[in-house]
Amino acid sequence: MRRKLVAGNWKMHGGLAQNQALLEGILPGVKGLRTADCVVCAPFPYLAQVQALLKGTTVAWGAQNLSQHPSGAFTGEVSASMLRDFGCRYVIVGHSERRQLYGEDSATVARKFNAALDAGLTPIFCVGETLEQREAGATEKVVAEQLDAVTGLVGAAGLGRAVVAYEPVWAIGTGKTATPDQAQEVHAFIRKRIAESSADVAAGQQILYGGSVKGSNAKELFAMADIDGGLIGGASLKADEFVTICQAAAQ
Ligand code: 13P
Repeated sequence: MRRKLVAGNWKMHGGLAQNQALLEGILPGVKGLRTADCVVCAPFPYLAQVQALLKGTTVAWGAQNLSQHPSGAFTGEVSASMLRDFGCRYVIVGHSERRQLYGEDSATVARKFNAALDAGLTPIFCVGETLEQREAGATEKVVAEQLDAVTGLVGAAGLGRAVVAYEPVWAIGTGKTATPDQAQEVHAFIRKRIAESSADVAAGQQILYGGSVKGSNAKELFAMADIDGGLIGGASLKADEFVTICQAAAQ
C-alpha cells in the first residue's frame, strides 16, 4: 500500500506572524495521524522559522523551487544544499507557475530535479496540462513529455525517489477541481507511463493531485485508486481546511 501524502504549497503568501498562527493551528489537528504524511512548502525567507516551529513534530517542510546549479554566480538563486541547511526534506520542482511565468522548460525542470536528488531532497515534481491543451486532446502527450524529460535524465529509479504531482493548470486557483474520474484517468496514465520503464517504481510511486483541493472534496479524490494524496494551494493557508484534508488522507 502506498502511503498518502498531503503537501501545502504556500506560494508567495504569509509573514512571520501569519505563519506561526497557521502552523500552531495545524499541529494539534495532524498530530495523531499515523497513516498519512503532511508537509508544508514555505517561501525561502521563512524556512528557518518553519524549521524552528516544526522540528520534532510530525509535519515535514520544504521549499517551492531551487537552482539547478550547486553553487556559483547565480544572483538571486537558492541551491539544494542551502535548503538542506534549513532541514528541508522536500522541494517543489516544475510547478506550472514556474513553467508559465518564469519560462522553465522541461529540460530545466529535469536539471532542477536532478540537483534536488543529488542533495538528498525529495522533489515534488509537478506535471499538468493547460485548458487549451486538454480541449485539444493533448493531455497525455503533454504529461508524457514532462515526465519523459525527467526520466530521460535520472531514469525511472530517480523518479521513484520523488513524488509526482498531477496539477491540471485549469484547476489551479480557479475553484474548478478536476472530478475524481478526470484526475484518476490521468493518474492511471502517469503510472502506466512509468511502468513502461519500471513496473516496480510505478507500483510504489506516490502521485498527488493538485488543483482546488479543499476540505470538502479531498476525501472523494483521495479515494481513487491512483491518487496518493494532494498538493494544496489556497486551502493550505487555512489551518482548519488543511487539517481536514490531512485527515481525509489518513482515512
Ligand atoms: P490551489 O489549491 O489554490 O488550486 O493551488 C494548487 C497548486 O498550485 C498547488 O501547488
